[in-house]
Amino acid sequence: MRVGILGSSDVAKSLGRGFLKEGHEVMLGSRQPEKLASWLREMGKGACAGTFSETSRFGELVVLAVHGTKSVEAIQMAGAANFNGKVVIDATNPLDMSAGLPPKLVGGLGTSGGELNQNALPGAFVVKAFNTVGNAHFYRPAFAGGPPDMFLCGDDAKAKEQVSRICKDFGWNPIDVGGIGFSHYVEATAMVWIITAFAGGHWNQAFKLLRK
Ligand SMILES: NC(=O)c1ccc[n+]([C@@H]2O[C@H](COP(=O)([O-])OP(=O)(O)OC[C@H]3O[C@@H](n4cnc5c(N)ncnc54)[C@H](OP(=O)(O)O)[C@@H]3O)[C@@H](O)[C@H]2O)c1
Repeated sequence: MRVGILGSSDVAKSLGRGFLKEGHEVMLGSRQPEKLASWLREMGKGACAGTFSETSRFGELVVLAVHGTKSVEAIQMAGAANFNGKVVIDATNPLDMSAGLPPKLVGGLGTSGGELNQNALPGAFVVKAFNTVGNAHFYRPAFAGGPPDMFLCGDDAKAKEQVSRICKDFGWNPIDVGGIGFSHYVEATAMVWIITAFAGGHWNQAFKLLRK
C-alpha cells in the first residue's frame, strides 16, 4: 500500500519507518521536502518525500503527523479533495506550548483536533490513533506487560477496522473508544501520558487497561 504521511518530524519519521518495515511504500510530506534528504538516504528503497499536496495524492492511506494546531492549515495546503474516499490516521494533538512545558491541550468537545480535521476533510474517514504514546514506541513496543493499548476513534467502522489492523501489525492492542466526537477524550489521554512523563521522567510508558 502507498502511505502518505503529512509531516517531517519525529512522528512522521517513526510512523514512516514502521510502515516501511511492514513492506509499504511511504512518502513524507513537508513544505520543504528537501529537508528529508538524509532520512530518505537512511530509509532507502520504498521511501520518498514530497509537498503536502503530492503526499496526500500519493497516499492510498494518509497520515496527519504535523503540528497539532496547524493541521487544518496543512490540510488546506495539501488540498482536501486529495483525501476523498481515503482513510486518514490523525496522530496529532493540538498542543499549546506558548507558556512552556508541559504543554496545554487546546480545544474541547466539538472543537477537538480530530473533529476539526474531520470537518476539514468531509470526503475522508478520519481515525484518531497513535497520539497517546511517544513516537519511540510506535513500532513494536516492547513492554514487559505485553502489547499496550492504542486508543482510537472515528465515525467509519471500516476505516477503524483498517487502522486497528495497522495497530496490530505495529504491535498494539487497538481499543475503539467511539466516534470522532470523542477525539477530545483521546487527545486528553495524551496529556495524561505527557504530564506523567514530565513529572516522573518516565518516557518509556504506555497505557494498558486491566480487565478481569
Ligand atoms: N512527538 C511525539 O512523540 C508525539 C507522539 C504522539 C503524537 N504527537 C503529535 O504528532 C504531531 C507531530 O509531532 P512532531 O513532534 O513529529 O512534529 P511537530 O514539531 O509537532 O510538527 C512538525 C510538523 O508540523 C508542520 N507544520 C508546522 N507548522 C506548520 C504550519 N504553519 N502549516 C503547516 N504545517 C506546519 C511541519 O511542516 P514542515 O515540514 O513544512 O516544517 C512539520 O512537518 C503533533 O501534533 C504532536 O502533538 C507527537
